[in-house]
Amino acid sequence: MPSAGILGISLEIPGKPQEGSSFMLELRNISFDVDENSKTKGILKNISLTLEDNKFVVVTGPNGGGKSTLAKIIAGIEKPTSGQIFWNGEDITHMSVTDRAKCGISYAFQQPVRFKGITVFDLIQLATGKKIDVDKACEYLSEVGLCAKDYIRREVNGSLSGGELKRIEIATVMARNTQMTIFDEPEAGIDLWSFQNLIRVFEKMHESSHRNILIISHQERILNIADEIVMIANGELKAMGTKEEILPQIFGTVSAAAPSGCGCKFYEMQNE
Ligand SMILES: Nc1ncnc2c1ncn2[C@@H]1O[C@H](COP(=O)(O)OP(=O)(O)O)[C@@H](O)[C@H]1O
Ligand SMILES: [Mg+2]
Repeated sequence: MPSAGILGISLEIPGKPQEGSSFMLELRNISFDVDENSKTKGILKNISLTLEDNKFVVVTGPNGGGKSTLAKIIAGIEKPTSGQIFWNGEDITHMSVTDRAKCGISYAFQQPVRFKGITVFDLIQLATGKKIDVDKACEYLSEVGLCAKDYIRREVNGSLSGGELKRIEIATVMARNTQMTIFDEPEAGIDLWSFQNLIRVFEKMHESSHRNILIISHQERILNIADEIVMIANGELKAMGTKEEILPQIFGTVSAAAPSGCGCKFYEMQNE
C-alpha cells in the first residue's frame, strides 16, 4: 500500500475507480527497473497517484529523479516493470502508444518530426485528423505566437529555429485536442525570449481550455500556474499537492548559490 502523508501531505490512497468519479489518470504502484551491470536498478519505485480531470499538473524534482521515465510510462513509450495505469477507469497498462493516443493521451516530442516536403500546414492538418482550411490552421499558429502567414506554407526543416519548431510542435499538439497532453521540459533548449512567449502560451492554454496538461518543468513561472505539483526524486513520489502546499517546500530548498542574473530561477533539492 502506498504511503500517505509524505512531507505532511496526505496522499489519496488509490482504490478502484468509483462510478462517476471525476479522476482520469491513476497510477497504481508503478515501478520501473532496469538492468545495470547485471544488477537491477530501480528507476521508479512504487509510485501511486491520481490526477483529476481539468488540471494543470507540473511534475518537478531533481535531474535523474525519474520524471521523464514517468511521462513515458504514462504515454506508453515505456512499460512499467510492475503496477497498473488506469485511464478513466480503464486499465491501459498494456496499451500501445498509438492506442493511448487514440484514447486521448498525447505526448509532445521536444521537436516535431521532420519529413522532407511536409509543411507546417500539413503537420497541423495531420494532427487534427481531418481536412481543415488554412484559416483554421492559422488559428493554431497564432495561438502559439507565430505569425501564421509567414509559417503556414513553410517546410518543417532545419531552416526553422529551435524556438519556432517548439512552438509548431505545441500548435500541432493543440490541434490534436486530446484529453491530456504531456510536455517534457518544453523550455529546454530555447532562448529566453522564446521562453517568455512559451509561458504565455501555457498560461493561455490553462485559462482558455479545459484540457489536462501535464508538464515536466523546473521553471518557477510554470510551477506558479500549476493546479497540482508532483515532486519526484530518486524514483519516488516525494510530495503532491497544490502549489500553495508544495512551492514553499521547493523554494525552502532553493540553493543560495543559484547563478544570478540568468533571469530564471532554477532550484536544487538537497540530496537526502
Ligand atoms: N532505459 C533505461 N536504462 C537505464 N537507465 C535508465 C533508463 N531510463 C532511465 N534511466 C535512468 O533513470 C534515471 C532517471 O531518468 P529520467 O527519468 O530521465 O530522470 P529525469 O527526467 O527526472 O531527469 C536516470 O539516472 C537515467 O539515467
Ligand atoms: Mg527528464
